Parts: sequence; structure tokens; C-alpha cells
Amino acid sequence: MLKKILTINDAKINVVDLGKGPPVLLVHGFPLDLKMWKSQIVEFAKTHRVICPDLAGFGLSRCREPRMQLQTHAQDLADLLSALDVHERVVYCGLSMGGYIGWEFWKQNPEKVSGMIACNTRAANDSLEVARGRRIAAKSIYQTGTLVLARQMAPRLLHCDPRKSKNTIQADVEKTIESTSPDSIAAGQIAMSKRSDAKPWLPLINCPALFIGGEHDEITTTREMSSDAALLPNAQFVEIKHAGHLTPLEQSESFNHHVLKFLNSNHF
Ligand code: MLT
Repeated sequence: MLKKILTINDAKINVVDLGKGPPVLLVHGFPLDLKMWKSQIVEFAKTHRVICPDLAGFGLSRCREPRMQLQTHAQDLADLLSALDVHERVVYCGLSMGGYIGWEFWKQNPEKVSGMIACNTRAANDSLEVARGRRIAAKSIYQTGTLVLARQMAPRLLHCDPRKSKNTIQADVEKTIESTSPDSIAAGQIAMSKRSDAKPWLPLINCPALFIGGEHDEITTTREMSSDAALLPNAQFVEIKHAGHLTPLEQSESFNHHVLKFLNSNHF
């Protein structure tokens, strides 16, 4: 797989750039990295140019200043596309925090977006209580450490059958979280706690859009996702069965089927 490290602003961004055709930008969730798209990259690259970065501070990307605002990640992504000579419009596909960044990306560059795929994400910002919890989590990660976070968080992200022992997806997700730096985890929590409410922007996003939810997602419910989708003029919502918050990893076949159908039917 073709991976490149590019200097973008004060960061070294690790990015997979694979395939030819209309560009699709895949943006991971928190506190994960591009490996969460491992079942999508090669599949989508058969017909599209897939651009899949590790956000600054995550995976193999490094930055001097941790990103304390999602707008900075959105700016990094726009600069990354320019550095890769992608001048045509892209289909933006983001999961959870990657989706929050997507609303900012659209706000900053509506002319660069041909389609939006919002996976396991929401447009509303945090309640005061959730934002407070994130500020506490941003401090406590330095005491508790990333291993404890990984063990607490992975089961919440995934729809685990309690009768089954820990599977490889859960083990991989734990490993990724454990290896993320506490500074990036703290910055991510602060950035998400400060994010804008994107709900008022939804009626203005008039490109084709696909919202994908997981039947058992406890973090972003299908109910909230379908009501967000109804606010866009040209959006559809699909629910992936037997999945939690990480639909592309947990039910990759069904996820890929819906995304490719969306891409093909809109001639992206
Ligand atoms: C994510 O998957 O990116 C996180 O669950 C987002 C969040 O904490 O709201």
C-alpha cells in the first residue's frame, strides 16, 4: 500500500493515497487511526482514488502543536489535498470525530465537497455536562494511562457478543488506543468539547449525502443519525445490522456495499 509522509503545516502527516478515479477522503474516529479503514482502502481503490490520512497526532502522524480545535484538523485536510494535487471535489467520508471534522471541512470548503458520508456521527455539539466530562478525561489520561482507557473504551465502541471471547477487532482497537499519545488524547477531548453545533448548517449541505449508523451504537444512536439525515435536502440514512460504533470494521461487507452503491448511483 502506498503510504507517504507529507509535511502539512507543523505536522508530518502519514497518508495512504491509493487508486485512480474520483477522490474519496476517509477520516478516522477518536482515538484511532487510518487502520480502522483497512477493509475499505483496497476495495474502494479499485474504482476511486482513496486518500486516507492519520490525523495530526494520531497513528503515525506527528505534530509540534497538538490540535486543540477541530477546525485545525479540517484545515490540515484541505492543505493535505492541495499537497497531493487533488484539485477536484472530493467525497468526504468521516466516522464519529472524523464526521465532526467533516462538518468543519464542509463549512471551510463547501466548493471542495461533492458528497458527504457521515458514519456513526452527529451534528450537534456537546451538552455542558458532556463537555465537562471531556475536560476531566483530558486531565485524567495522564494519571490513568492509555492502557486503562483502551480496556474501558474498546467494548463501548464495538458491539460485542458477551458469549464470545475478545475477538481480533477488539484486540486491534485496544492496541491502537493504547499506543496513542496522552497529549493527542487530551487535545482530541478538548477539541471535541469546544466544537460548534453543526445542526444549523445541515439544511445548507445540498450535495448527495449518506448517513450510516450501527444498530447497536451506544455513542451515536441510529435515531439521532436518522433525524440529522432528515435535515439535509439530499441525504439518505442506512442502518448496519449487528454493529456498534465502528461499522466499517465490524460489518465491512455491508458497509462497503452501501458506500459503493452511494458512490456509483451518484456517478462519483
Ligand atoms: C469517536 O469515535 O470519534 C468518538 O467516540 C467521538 C466522541 O467521543 O464523541
